[in-house]
Amino acid sequence: MNKNIVIIGTQWGDEGKGKIVDWLSESVKGVVRFQGGHNAGHTLWINGKKTILRLIPSGIMHPNITCFIGNGVVLSIEALLKEIDELESTGILVKNRLYISENCPLILPYHIALDTAREKQKGVNKIGTTGRGIGPAYEDKVARRAIRLKDIFNPKLLEEKLEDNVNYYNLLLTKLFNESEINFSSIKEYLTKIAPIIEPMIKDVSNCLYDMCEKGENLLFEGAQGALLDVDHGTYPYVTSSNCISGAASTGSGVGPKNIDYILGITKAYTTRVGSGPFPTELNDDIGIKLSTIGKEVGSVTGRPRRCGWLDAAALKRSARINGISGLCITKLDVLDSFDYIKIGVGYQINDTFYDVLPYGISNLNNILPIFETISGWKSSTASITEFDKLPEQARYYLGRIADISGIPIDIISTGPDRNDTIVLRNPFMI
Ligand code: IMP
Repeated sequence: MNKNIVIIGTQWGDEGKGKIVDWLSESVKGVVRFQGGHNAGHTLWINGKKTILRLIPSGIMHPNITCFIGNGVVLSIEALLKEIDELESTGILVKNRLYISENCPLILPYHIALDTAREKQKGVNKIGTTGRGIGPAYEDKVARRAIRLKDIFNPKLLEEKLEDNVNYYNLLLTKLFNESEINFSSIKEYLTKIAPIIEPMIKDVSNCLYDMCEKGENLLFEGAQGALLDVDHGTYPYVTSSNCISGAASTGSGVGPKNIDYILGITKAYTTRVGSGPFPTELNDDIGIKLSTIGKEVGSVTGRPRRCGWLDAAALKRSARINGISGLCITKLDVLDSFDYIKIGVGYQINDTFYDVLPYGISNLNNILPIFETISGWKSSTASITEFDKLPEQARYYLGRIADISGIPIDIISTGPDRNDTIVLRNPFMI
């Protein structure tokens, strides 16, 4: 029997999923991206070398793994080809083991133009998007006008759809946003030119994955962003435009939910967020700066500084529920090593009501009071520890509180950026 595991971020992204996907990849034959686009940035440190992946699944670093980009991903072909070139220039073969769903909606220059024009117009009320055109590309998908990957091999259809879309976007860009027009011919020429390069990588991904399951081969589904950025369940409207919860692994790849065996929730030992939106446990003080400095909290895609705060266990509880998490993986525990005390957000006071789970619809921050539990710090190094019993007692206590409050067991702890800096309490593939 094969085993399929989904990895998702339980917070606002940047939980350190890339490292864990890479680590678990040793037990699988295929790794699948199922949502988002090149707004993601998964940083891997392997043998001291840093690699950032945006679109290609982190499993690509293992030569025997086949990687898939499922239909739920919005695809910038330009970003994809750049990433392939970067990887291949370092000796990692990509083209013969990366397969892309023919149904992926494409991100085209007009999506990027609209994304940035809207943000500019919103000013202080902006979402803080990555400016990659993700939102408009998903809008096209739902509006049934998206140019899908397979369309680039049908010149007549491509021309018709592209012309309609360019006209539509140019109207919005010029009339609503006072921006310049996008050129139809240059997009058409580009898509026609790259079609033969991309053709060998296109597959019916859903069927490929089905066949692998039938052969008993394990699969890993690699989520991007985090559950609190989910377009339905996150802190709307300050969210991304895809579903980033575990259920999206099925819709975004074409593998039925019955075939998912285990869901791993990656949780940073504290909290970070890039872009705008509610963040009840945020620290706008020296402690926040200390977390940011030690944790090197700078966005890997945009280079923007990440906002930092204490772990919000009440938000984690919400995440655990909407994702059906089987086990947690706590990352960056070592970042907390030098703190005198550590706080855990256990709920919120909103007006006269206490909430022990993140309530929906909290876009108004003004009247939210986070409620904390405080523990003393362990003040010793946990970096690179590989056995749970070797962790300082207070660190074990902290982890225990996270498990108690969220109601989810901790199965893996990451104590440093390298593949080997990992404590395994339960290996998801051995359960
Ligand atoms: P978009 O996905 O570019 O539309 O951005 C929407 C929101 O999601 C913004 O707050 C971004 O900062 C955030 N976001 C998108 N991708 C990531 C990610 O990979 N990590 C963390 N935040 C992200």
